[in-house]
Parts: sequence; C-alpha cells; structure tokens
Amino acid sequence: MKLPATVGIIMGSDSDLKIMRQAAEVLEELGVQYELTVVSAHRTPERMVTYAKEAADKGLKIIIAGAGGAAHLPGMVASLTTLPVIGVPIKSSNSIDGWDSVLSILQMPAGVPVATVALDGARNAGILAAQIVGTFDAYVALNLIQFKKKMTQKVEEAIGSIEQQGWKKHLESK
Ligand code: RP5
Repeated sequence: MKLPATVGIIMGSDSDLKIMRQAAEVLEELGVQYELTVVSAHRTPERMVTYAKEAADKGLKIIIAGAGGAAHLPGMVASLTTLPVIGVPIKSSNSIDGWDSVLSILQMPAGVPVATVALDGARNAGILAAQIVGTFDAYVALNLIQFKKKMTQKVEEAIGSIEQQGWKKHLESK
C-alpha cells in the first residue's frame, strides 16, 4: 500500500526535472513520502491555484517549488497556502544567469515567506523538507541522524587519505 505524501514537489516545467529530481532522490534516501508534478504559474495558473489550495487538505506538510527565469511559482504558491514553501531557483534556458530566478524567489514581500535555497539547490531543498518532517516523524529523524553521520565519515576519510598519501595522490584516487 502506498503511504500518503508528506512533501509535494512541483516545478514550472518538465525541463526543471533534471534539477528537481535531486529533491525527490534525497527524500527517497531519507524515507520521506512525496509526490511530484509540473505546475506552471504562467502556463497553468488555475492548476497552480487548485494545487496550492488543496495541498494542506490532502495531507501535504511542505511544498518544494522549483522554477527558472521569471520564477513566480514558489511565491504565488506561498501566497495561497499556509504550508511552508521551499523555493528552488533554477538556471533554466530562459534564465539570464540564474540571478533572475534567485531574486524572483528570494525577494518576497513581508508576510509571505519562501525558504529559498541556492541556485539549482534542489538536494538541499529535499534535505530541509526532510528536516521539517523529522520534527514530527521519528523514523525520518533517525534517518537524518544516519545521513549526517555518513557525511561526517566521508570528510574524515578524505582527511585521513590526504594525511596518508598527500593531496596529489588523493586527487588521483578520486
Ligand atoms: C519556468 O520557465 C520553468 O520553471 C522553467 O524553469 C523555465 C523554462 O521552461 P520551458 O520553456 O523549458 O518549459 O517557468
């Protein structure tokens, strides 16, 4: 039986999937149930309104919204729901240099926050969403502890390898 989704991942276009898949992948690693779909603020505005208005009632706790260029999706969704919205600015084909997406998502007016991650930072958006889920889901909280331990171990291994064989050999062995 499929468990209900806690996190909703949406994006302005399927061309955003190459970045947004990283949010889905890390949520899978961390044992968080999610749903994923395309919702365009400009091309399917009514779908965006319906998605945002129904999100809380269908059991979602967090929305991750990614968009590029004139990236209005995260902010508009945040205006239509009381759920926390994590925004992922994407350097898309219509982005000048990525700053357009970053600023469109980051510079929200007072009262309507969007937790904005770095440009193309979908993996961090997934981790942040899992950390919110971890505040009320013990299974996810435990997975996050393991996840952080693994990150620390990886760095410790790199430190050991650089100390033992020097940075040049370490680089070659990577
Ligand atoms: C944005 O326009 C989307 O989020 C996407 O990043 C960008 C380009 O969309 P496509 O023209 O590739 O569909 O609204």
